[in-house]
Amino acid sequence: MVRSTSILAFLLILIAGCTSTHERTISSGWTEIDAIFQNKCTSCHAGEQAAEGLRLDSWQNLFEGSDHGEAVIAYDSENSLLIELATKYTKGSHPSELGEEALTDEEIRTISEWIDAGAPSADGDIPFSNPDDPRLYVANQAAGMVAVIDINTNQVVRMVNLMGLGFNEFSMPHHIAVEPDGSFWYVSLIMADKILKFTRDNELVGQVEATRPGLVALDPVGPWLYAGRSMMSVSPPESIVQIDRDKMDVEEIGLLMQRPHALAVSRDGSATYISSLAQNRVATYKDETGDVVFYDVEGDRPHVFIGFTISPDGTTMVGTSEVTSNAFVFDLTAGDGVTLIDTIRVLRAPWHPIYSADGKWVYFGNNWTNTITVLNMETREVAKVIEGYGLAQPHGSAASPDGRYMYISNRNLAMPDGHSKQDHVYHPRYDLGDNAHIGTVLVLDTRTHEIVKIIETEEYASGMGAAVNRN
Ligand code: HEC
Repeated sequence: MVRSTSILAFLLILIAGCTSTHERTISSGWTEIDAIFQNKCTSCHAGEQAAEGLRLDSWQNLFEGSDHGEAVIAYDSENSLLIELATKYTKGSHPSELGEEALTDEEIRTISEWIDAGAPSADGDIPFSNPDDPRLYVANQAAGMVAVIDINTNQVVRMVNLMGLGFNEFSMPHHIAVEPDGSFWYVSLIMADKILKFTRDNELVGQVEATRPGLVALDPVGPWLYAGRSMMSVSPPESIVQIDRDKMDVEEIGLLMQRPHALAVSRDGSATYISSLAQNRVATYKDETGDVVFYDVEGDRPHVFIGFTISPDGTTMVGTSEVTSNAFVFDLTAGDGVTLIDTIRVLRAPWHPIYSADGKWVYFGNNWTNTITVLNMETREVAKVIEGYGLAQPHGSAASPDGRYMYISNRNLAMPDGHSKQDHVYHPRYDLGDNAHIGTVLVLDTRTHEIVKIIETEEYASGMGAAVNRN
């Protein structure tokens, strides 16, 4: 291998010399990082044949990521794969497991500091800071974190660590709602009894108290954010939470319904639909009058409604039921509340449902069978059952704003031996010692209904939100 090591070493000494004459307050720049990569990485990570498709030969190429996802998450060296492979890889500090020279501790520190300063380019640009780029937010319930995915490139571009904001690792972030223009996002924390408001730049700007909040839903017209109660609470208040999301004021709306859980707001904002985990009923709450109308769904045992999704034209709502494994189709146009018009049998434990942008399909993961169901909403039949690697207790769903992709999150929890779900475990691509049960987000191409990518996140990927209001 021809490599002008002596010149590079000389350059490195020069650069090291330069930085030490400056005050050490200026953190390392891309030029310094580039020199390290040129010295130890680009022999394999450059050009067409780059290992895993990861090119470390320019700042732009680094942030294109590999064939699988990101190598560096700006501001978070600890969760950046490039650093994890150098510090925690059980096969040895990469690339030493391939017989190549590993990064020195000093180099790892230099790269980490640069990442924690936002991983700026030579011109000072921070990656993925264009305010118009669509984002997907993924609650990582067992990690106290929210992963932020760039929808254009389908890679994790930021990690919001709630532990750094005064919450503990048991706060359980569960579900996320995003303003239609992407300006703010909201996350429910089941065990911290809170709902938090963040800016697009992931700055915490507001919070309210709410007992065991679960699903959240935005009023697309008015100022409200609604929250139901988590499944983890067996006797939560018989009310939902209504938040003025500008002022972050909170009120409780009493429902006289046990364990209110599934939640959706009508397209015109006039009605909120809520169902119970314990009773077979759907409540319709009208904000203008304060009226609540109940609709009872037949059944000799609790269906356990999990989630609702409303069609883009606002006329139809689909609700999933965990225990009886149905997709219930409700008409929203007749009368004051909902009317059941169809029941579709599906595989076990359908979870968060979501309509496609054109209203033709509804998607959801089946939490107990590790599959994704696609419903044809014109014929009201199961159009496809998707199986595949990465499906491990599917939970949340979201759509890209252009309708091109659907996202399904997966918990991938540790299962006791002999449990039926044991054969559906996702094994992370690199064993970092502590990451056996990281969750995933599967990317589904809506034109082919195929899984096109597996994005690795942190433990227990649960509810998701994107800047498109189709909850
Ligand atoms: C000898 C060739 C070689 C060198 C040198 C090398 N890598 Fe790699 N790299 C690989 C291969 C091959 C893989 C795939 C994983 C494996 O086989 O361990 C990989 C994987 C990676 C990944 C994970 C990409 C993904 O998403 O799967 C990162 C990040 C990475 N390398 C960073 C680096 C850095 C930083 C350096 C320099 C310090 C470096 N590599 C040097 C060959 C190399």
